[in-house]
Amino acid sequence: MQIGILGVGAIGQLLAQQLAAAGLEPWLLPRANTPPLAEQGEEQVYTLELGDQSLQTSFLCLAQDSSKLKQLDLLLVTVKAYQVEAALEPLLPKLHPDCRILLLHNGLGPHQSLAAKLNGRPLSLGTTSQAALKLSSNHIRQTGRGLTQIGDLSGAPTPEAMKTALLNAIPGSQWSDAILEALWQKLAVNAVINPLTAIHRVNNGALAAPEFEGTICAILDELLQVAKQEGIALTFDALHARVKEVIRLTAANYSSMYQDLKHGRKTEIDYINGYLQQRAEQYGLTLPINSELVAQIKALEPRN
Ligand SMILES: NC(=O)c1ccc[n+]([C@@H]2O[C@H](COP(=O)([O-])OP(=O)(O)OC[C@H]3O[C@@H](n4cnc5c(N)ncnc54)[C@H](OP(=O)(O)O)[C@@H]3O)[C@@H](O)[C@H]2O)c1
Repeated sequence: MQIGILGVGAIGQLLAQQLAAAGLEPWLLPRANTPPLAEQGEEQVYTLELGDQSLQTSFLCLAQDSSKLKQLDLLLVTVKAYQVEAALEPLLPKLHPDCRILLLHNGLGPHQSLAAKLNGRPLSLGTTSQAALKLSSNHIRQTGRGLTQIGDLSGAPTPEAMKTALLNAIPGSQWSDAILEALWQKLAVNAVINPLTAIHRVNNGALAAPEFEGTICAILDELLQVAKQEGIALTFDALHARVKEVIRLTAANYSSMYQDLKHGRKTEIDYINGYLQQRAEQYGLTLPINSELVAQIKALEPRN
């Protein structure tokens, strides 16, 4: 089984190292290199820091027009949500028609905008609560462990051997037969924690203060209105309990949206609260709280 990784950033490198440690030898597809990579690809060394250990692994890096792309059985896409379409679309004609795509970004949306372009190609989705920090282009530090959930969305189901290989390689991973529900649960957590921590410039734990309770409930109420229209079975009590639990368990952490704004980067808001807003419009619903959060985050994003 040959796996490729598109999006050789923090999470892409972490997964590459975990797959390599399990003997799966993934190929990496970095952004266009200068000078260009040789047709057969080139070995490059990547470093993973984990605690006080430093692990160096050599990976075959392929140019994005390499004929070897046709040999891939699975392409993990680990770019940011707003990069998925631009990164993946040019590659689709170069992949074998049976090559499975697994999207592993935060938020939701690209699976719908890509659907028509996949021509029946198998699509899986996933979410991870592992965490990593990119120190340089070939060097990351793992900063957190956590659950990774993967499941099939459309097309042929993932072969058992591929499923087993992925779950054995990725620590804390599990298969989800209802991946959209799992992703909506994660969306709820992100829709609360990301914008509120970024706007108020606080760590996750600060959201346990009573002053945030009304806003948290309103965000979840609006999300549930959209989820109901989408046929996603979620309950307020379960979501609310999950959000409160994540706030408690990650109290000292600063969310990715907080960090993106702090470092002057674009955020994934369009694929979190913005995704809810966009789906709500399809059903003639308005989401005042989520829309307000989107507007506030956009006002804080860098202009380019
Ligand atoms: N980092 C974490 O701890 C973490 C944890 C959980 C979930 N996530 C989610 O995982 C996703 C990836 O996050 P990340 O932190 O790994 O981001 P990242 O470090 O920015 O990695 C994304 C990588 O994709 C590359 N890329 C972008 N467009 C590309 C293209 N057209 N062709 C080839 N490569 C392209 C980027 O290259 P450039 O740098 O050159 O743009 C970058 O190396 C996000 O949705 C994030 O929310 C991250």
